[in-house]
Amino acid sequence: MAAGKGTRMKSQLPKVLQQLAHKPLVQHVLATAAQLHARSAVVITGHGAAQVEAALSHPSALALKFVRQEPQLGTGHAVQQAVPVLADDGVVVVLSGDVPLTQADSLEALIALCAGKNLALLTLDMPDPTGYGRIERHGDAVCAIVEHKDATPAQRALTEIYSGIMAVPARLLKGWLARLDNKNAQGEYYLTDIVKFAVQDGVRVLAHTITDAVQVAGINSPVQLAELERAYQHRVALALMEQGVRLKDPARLDVRGVLECAADVEIDVNCIFEGRVSLGEGVKIGANCVIANCTIAAGAVIHSFTHIDGEKLGVTVGTDARVGPFARLRPGAQLGVDVHIGNFVEVKNSTLAKGAKANHLAYLGDATVGERVNYGAGSITANYDGANKHRTVIEADVHIGSNCVLVAPITIGAGGTVGAGSTITKSTEAGALSVARGKQVSIANYQRPAKKPKA
Ligand code: UD1
Ligand code: CA
Repeated sequence: MAAGKGTRMKSQLPKVLQQLAHKPLVQHVLATAAQLHARSAVVITGHGAAQVEAALSHPSALALKFVRQEPQLGTGHAVQQAVPVLADDGVVVVLSGDVPLTQADSLEALIALCAGKNLALLTLDMPDPTGYGRIERHGDAVCAIVEHKDATPAQRALTEIYSGIMAVPARLLKGWLARLDNKNAQGEYYLTDIVKFAVQDGVRVLAHTITDAVQVAGINSPVQLAELERAYQHRVALALMEQGVRLKDPARLDVRGVLECAADVEIDVNCIFEGRVSLGEGVKIGANCVIANCTIAAGAVIHSFTHIDGEKLGVTVGTDARVGPFARLRPGAQLGVDVHIGNFVEVKNSTLAKGAKANHLAYLGDATVGERVNYGAGSITANYDGANKHRTVIEADVHIGSNCVLVAPITIGAGGTVGAGSTITKSTEAGALSVARGKQVSIANYQRPAKKPKA
């Protein structure tokens, strides 16, 4: 169900497209459904239907079908819209697009309880059940779900609530949906009324009760979105630590994508990982780094305040490399073994071979840098002529002095030296010293102008 408006989000974006860990809420739900190997997933859209459908249009692991619910007359009415696309022989698991953190094993247990013939409800005990549908039992057997607004004081005192998640045989569901009415406090077609029909028809209604409220928590407001974001990040941090990753503070880590870690990885506080990031054995990440779409090989150290984003091209950092503090690696930066990138150095679409170093205040864009090159402070590749990008090739063992401009396209021959302050516009021979700057002039015993004495 993804038709609701989400008024309390106070946002132009449909609620189910609000992001948790950089992924729309409904995508989290569909990812869980995919883990169940569902035959297909039916997304019931309504508010912002076109936008929701477009956001889910890219190929997914799960066959998606869309149906629309317009107007929104309740959860029962929502599921009625899906009836034409549900196969009679299946089991339907009803999920909400705004409940993102349900775990697959809870749903598997629910499906097992349904066993193709029972109505299985996911329930939870809540100290404050206000607003939820209450589970009413006769002895052990569930006999009804009573919505909060329709409940008597005695029913409101019940603390077992319906989570909004059920597993139900499709054939039975279809029959019960046809019998719903909207004669209740909210004038809505309640999906929860099917419990009464199951009881009337002699179908067993079983509850699978869990204790982890996060799994059934829905999002209605920015506060709840932020709370579930923290719950999600806590879950990710625990899983990483269980696997051996040393986090300085699990409360100060954000993973908004997939973070893979080999053994003995250490991560300091306030780091954000986005997209796909892979950290090799013994990698150390300093405090306050933002790292996205990047592969970092074993033994590499990323010092604090480093920003890395490989976007589509990716970034690779070689074995035992040192990056930062305050470094920036952009798409296509490929650093080899033992490369050093120091503070205020920006690297874009450039390959640095083993042992190359750019330690201070420099720019390398569209460059191929050979082994053991030393690239001086304040030097840049002038890779852009205002219309096109050009490559700079710096061969092995070159020494580029401080404050140089290498105007691309250009090649600095192996073992060459470029004097500090040079603007190099022509390629240089191997082994050459190239200097391109005004010759120094020194005038001995120079007298600075002096102010005229006042009359
Ligand atoms: C529902 C349950 C309640 C349960 C609670 C758990 C009903 C009648 N009640 O109540 O027993 O305790 O969930 O959170 O089912 N939606 C549509 N179309 C509609 C109405 C809702 O798609 O016409 C979607 C909403 O966007 C949401 C989900 O269905 O994703 C649940 O709707 P919501 O209004 O939050 O249900 P509750 O009234 O909270
Ligand atoms: Ca509601």
